[in-house]
Amino acid sequence: MSAAKTSGKVSRRPLFGRMYPKMAAAMDEGGMTERRRELLAGPSGEAIEVGAGHGVNFPHYPAEVVQVVAVEPESRLRARAQASAGESSQLARVRRARRSGCTREPMQDSTAP
Ligand SMILES: C[S@@+](CC[C@H](N)C(=O)[O-])C[C@H]1O[C@@H](n2cnc3c(N)ncnc32)[C@H](O)[C@@H]1O
Repeated sequence: MSAAKTSGKVSRRPLFGRMYPKMAAAMDEGGMTERRRELLAGPSGEAIEVGAGHGVNFPHYPAEVVQVVAVEPESRLRARAQASAGESSQLARVRRARRSGCTREPMQDSTAP
């Protein structure tokens, strides 16, 4: 697997990190935006998004979600997600995820419906 430097951090999937925002924009133009809204309607409280990409879901969380903890391993996408989190109305916090293994997050157990 190749690795490339992105803002001083190693990205292990540099091509994916560059391509995914363009792919997602094309999908959103093709109707994915509405699908994102449908999928994210309903939750409340704190949410965790595993694999947040560049944070394209953040604006679609309903107002009842008071915080989104988002984890993303790819450094280029994570940087964009952090910028998106700053613009979103939710208090989104973006964390680094490990591609192999678990990331510990300060979330309560048994909070899923
Ligand atoms: C198909 S993208 C979806 C991004 C975003 N949630 C969306 O709806 O557009 C999947 C994301 O999961 C991330 N990912 C891959 N392996 C992961 C892992 N082990 N833990 C967390 N995220 C991971 C990828 O880097 C990628 O950004």
